[in-house]
Amino acid sequence: MSGKTPRRILVTGATGQIGSELTVELRKMYGGDNVIAAGHRRKPSEKLAKSGPFEYVDVSDRDSIGKIVEKYDVDSIFHLASVLSAVGEEKPQLAWKVNMGGLYNVLEVARERELTMVFWPSSIAVFGQEATRVNTPQNTVLIPRTMYGVAKVAGELLCNYYFLRFGLDVRGVRYPGIISSETLPGGGTTDYAVEIFYEALKKKQYTCFVREDTMLPMMYMPDCIKAAIDLMEADPSRIKCRTSYNLTGMSFSAGELAAEIRKHIPEFECEYKPDFRQKIADSWPMSIDDGVAREEWGWKPTYDLADMTKDMIEKLTERARQT
Ligand code: SER
Repeated sequence: MSGKTPRRILVTGATGQIGSELTVELRKMYGGDNVIAAGHRRKPSEKLAKSGPFEYVDVSDRDSIGKIVEKYDVDSIFHLASVLSAVGEEKPQLAWKVNMGGLYNVLEVARERELTMVFWPSSIAVFGQEATRVNTPQNTVLIPRTMYGVAKVAGELLCNYYFLRFGLDVRGVRYPGIISSETLPGGGTTDYAVEIFYEALKKKQYTCFVREDTMLPMMYMPDCIKAAIDLMEADPSRIKCRTSYNLTGMSFSAGELAAEIRKHIPEFECEYKPDFRQKIADSWPMSIDDGVAREEWGWKPTYDLADMTKDMIEKLTERARQT
């Protein structure tokens, strides 16, 4: 086990919801030129393109990853590229190819080139109806019903295998739904918790694709980034779990979120028209017990529903004023 810290990092999925903000944060810590942003189809934002190198990488092609690792002498990978849960149900074959194939390729490149570290996000989607849905514990039955979840469970086991078998320092967290103001998520079940803010500000109206009483675990982007960095910086002796750690920031129902937004935008109206994503949401936990992450590497979220809502509305209002 290396116990070394990263020197030059490749971020796959850097144009995505988490990647676009995590890359910028890592560049602040490690220097712009030491964090290589990789996207697939989407063009990088100006912020991303200007703050350091950008490359197009197809994670389902191992050589495409290997070439960039070689070109920049990369020693650590934050592997975020993924097809999310709702798109994954529409295109399960693609989800398996990108999510499972991509992770396998990243782990193989890391093994072959003896990289220092790999960070990979798992998800609350690893759980299925058989798991306790309230305060879902770290270790419980994992029988997901989405292809996204199936690939996450298999991916967790693969990460653990690479740690045990090859000594690769791979670390992961099971993110809940992530709420952010910079880049919209694409194709997830928890996307409503982001879209609702944009629509509340623009149209004072939102049609939510899950029921009002649908409760899911969520997290605000600053906590999402903090989790990745805290976990990456933790001494390897503290990381006992090499599958992925349960993690949460807050839990609320869609109706509670709408009510919180209404405190800032009193005219806001929300209606509920559940679609196929309701079934996915109903198979996931309502709240998460992240006690193991708290104990082993000191995880502690900062934002609750009220803080997050206030900050989202301020940030999006400010952005609208500038454009
Ligand atoms: N937020 C993701 C999704 O909804 C779950 O990891 O697909």
